[in-house]
Amino acid sequence: MKIFLDSTNIEEIREINKLGIIDGITTNPSLIAKSGKGFNQILKSICKEVKGPVSAEVTAESFENMLSEAKILSKISKNIVIKLPLTFNGLKACKHLTKKNYKTNVTLCFTVPQAILAAKAGATYISPFIGRLDDANVDGVQLIREIKLIFSHYNYETKILAASIRTKNHVTQSALAGADVVTIPPKVFSSLVNHNLTDKGL
Ligand code: G3P
Repeated sequence: MKIFLDSTNIEEIREINKLGIIDGITTNPSLIAKSGKGFNQILKSICKEVKGPVSAEVTAESFENMLSEAKILSKISKNIVIKLPLTFNGLKACKHLTKKNYKTNVTLCFTVPQAILAAKAGATYISPFIGRLDDANVDGVQLIREIKLIFSHYNYETKILAASIRTKNHVTQSALAGADVVTIPPKVFSSLVNHNLTDKGL
């Protein structure tokens, strides 16, 4: 299983990346807006720090504008993955960009049929949102299990990227369900290292 950090905080990314076990980064426009810095500037510094895939999301809702944004984002670095929302236009853009050899991450996935459509559109990653489903009293991890099973029936190559991870248990359960990637916010990542019995044992 690959571990991505779900963050735009370059200081936190640098610190955790010193471990040498971070495989990539996911970002989103609201995380970038919170940081108060420019979109491109943040993505550039993240791509310099982490060699693996870095997801950068389009903000446009129309097909044409998604493509124009994807073009601009992909020029930032060769490790940029274009993150697209799971909408009609997002899927259309995914299919189009896949044909042109872009890497894509289709985000905001909440159901199995949505994941199937993303796989059919050639998405590199599909991002089911576990925490937000749990918030709505739906078992988020069950969605990962179902997508995993269905993708294995049809040998879909799209990787399952468990997102909206809120707890240590989400990481455990995503791994048990066979997620290919788990993207973890820095706070949750830090909690993975520690255990009181480890401290006591020291
Ligand atoms: O990876 C998706 C993530 O940024 C959303 O997380 O906690 O806002 O549902 P959350």
